[in-house]
Amino acid sequence: MSNYHIKHLEEYFQVYRKSVRDPERFWEEVAEEHFVWRKRWSNVLSWDFAKPEVKWFEGAELNITENCLDRHLRTHGEQTAILFEPNSPDEEAQHITYNALFEKVNKMANVLKAQGIEKGDRVCIYLPMIPELAIALLACARIGAVHSVVFAGFSAKALATRINDASCKMVITSDGSYRGAKTLDLKAIVDEALLSCETIEKVLLVERTKNKVTLKEGRDLWIQPLLDEADGFCEAVSMNAEDPLFILYTSGSTGKPKGMVHTTGGYMVYTAYTFKNIFQYREGDIYWCTADIGWITGHSYIVYGPLANGGTTVMFEGVPSYPDFSRFWEIVEKHKITHLYTAPTAIRALAKENIEYVEKCDLSSLKVLGSVGEPINEEAWHWYNDNVGKNKSPIVDTWWQTETGGIMISPIPFVTPTKPTYATLPFIGIQPALMDENAQELKGNQVEGRLCIKYPWPSMARTIWGDHDRYRDTYFSAYANMYFTGDGAMRDEVGYYRITGRVDDVIIVSGHNLGTAPIEDAINEHQAVAESAIVGFPHEVKGNALYGYVILKEYGESRNFDNLKKEINQQIADKIGPIAKLDKIQFVPGLPKTRSGKIMRRILRKIASKDTSNLGDTSTLLNPEVVKEIMDNAL
Ligand code: WT7
Repeated sequence: MSNYHIKHLEEYFQVYRKSVRDPERFWEEVAEEHFVWRKRWSNVLSWDFAKPEVKWFEGAELNITENCLDRHLRTHGEQTAILFEPNSPDEEAQHITYNALFEKVNKMANVLKAQGIEKGDRVCIYLPMIPELAIALLACARIGAVHSVVFAGFSAKALATRINDASCKMVITSDGSYRGAKTLDLKAIVDEALLSCETIEKVLLVERTKNKVTLKEGRDLWIQPLLDEADGFCEAVSMNAEDPLFILYTSGSTGKPKGMVHTTGGYMVYTAYTFKNIFQYREGDIYWCTADIGWITGHSYIVYGPLANGGTTVMFEGVPSYPDFSRFWEIVEKHKITHLYTAPTAIRALAKENIEYVEKCDLSSLKVLGSVGEPINEEAWHWYNDNVGKNKSPIVDTWWQTETGGIMISPIPFVTPTKPTYATLPFIGIQPALMDENAQELKGNQVEGRLCIKYPWPSMARTIWGDHDRYRDTYFSAYANMYFTGDGAMRDEVGYYRITGRVDDVIIVSGHNLGTAPIEDAINEHQAVAESAIVGFPHEVKGNALYGYVILKEYGESRNFDNLKKEINQQIADKIGPIAKLDKIQFVPGLPKTRSGKIMRRILRKIASKDTSNLGDTSTLLNPEVVKEIMDNAL
């Protein structure tokens, strides 16, 4: 149906207008014509942003795996669903067909059931980028268990916090994980985490690296023998459209991560519809998103979106630098990739290397390029466009969030003219608003303000697991009747959006969303530390890197500062993960504070960015003298 696949700009505007004029009618049509439901909805949408409460397709019943698997078997059974490219180029790639994936998911679903998992139970998945990761998500969805994937780069403490927050009953993990030349001992991390988790009854282990692990009697089981015995069919459980499909954690401005809850029906409809249009995916295309399934990008655009469309989705286990910096381009050539969806930080890292790495590979299969995770700077955009896209593959700069479930602002390739650093136009059904300091909406073009969304869309998160008040306070209290994104944005003269970055205490490092508070908490736990403040500063590859200002309890003469810095970073790596380590640590006698005791991060950000010509108004500071002291010793 025409609404499902937009092909030119006029059609975009036409469909957009329709989606905004009568959103319920619009999404109802999409839902009706492109998915299989076990029972129809009684109501398309009910919502109240004050509570906040949002329900899409209320009363409907479905199972998302029937949409991602069963219905493709007849038409696409022998087509590759998941193309797995291992860490080492010497290991053979795996082409898992829809028939094979169906069987694997059903078997794993039966294993989960046999191990006591029921509809509504939470299952933590802590796996590397191997096919079992995608299979585990789908197996949970098949039986109505709520998956909570934790990125396998998080530390034992971070893993334990997430397991406990959701009271998970089971962990699915592996003996280890390959990352380039390194092997990580995932099972040891899980063992450490579980010392402080009471709710876990079973640990299922995938064999990957064959490193030595110890099994805890009665708790830990190798999964393969169970799969070998399991039946190849598992009846899909009927889910209400508003039943939770998964929890995924994102950082916030307090120490505790937020477990964003996504539900079944709306999430399916929106991720599938955006995938089809924003990548202009067509039969036979080979789509590769380089994200990890541990992030929302992987959930929506490696697993659910592509599979709901019967597509071929690539899973890459390794890293862009192994065995050398040609790896991405070799994979594109080897598998004749048509769509490459990656992050600005990866582009910048690869752009620093010899251009030979790119040029020696045949990239002619590429049709569409994508970018996600942070604003893409002009230089990276051009490098990507010229050297990878050869000026013929449009770049979709897709703005969205863990909370939004799917892409919100993005060009549609071959439809929306692109403009470097601009995410361009709102996607179908999305109604953005820019707000000023006085909570007034900025109308018209050429304005800049805080980015909000005025109307519900099907894949928005419904709550924070176990803390609905926090959900309301974080997203719906800054502006009445609006979802507040936490980002700033401008709208140019033709109505294109450019995301300018976070306006809260979240810093995006290499595309990872890091809250300042949890990092500061980790630092402050060091016995020598009195207080600390973290800010971001521009970094060539990471986009932003972290700069920590640390006040020590005492400055003894003998204090070994280099060691102390190492200890602080180790502490952060233990509590959160290596991605949150600081690039620079400055020991300071005090932090600039307002009279109400709030740290003036604006000043610290300027000092960290070496932009101290105009520090702005410091008259409201309690301790202005400390600013000069910090500046004189800045790193
Ligand atoms: C934050 C959300 C959603 C996928 C991965 C990140 C920033 C994301 C863009 C973009 C400018 C972007 C925003 C957003 N962001 N994509 N194309 N241009 N900024 O998910 O970890 O929830 O982070 O990432 O600041 O709020 P996330």
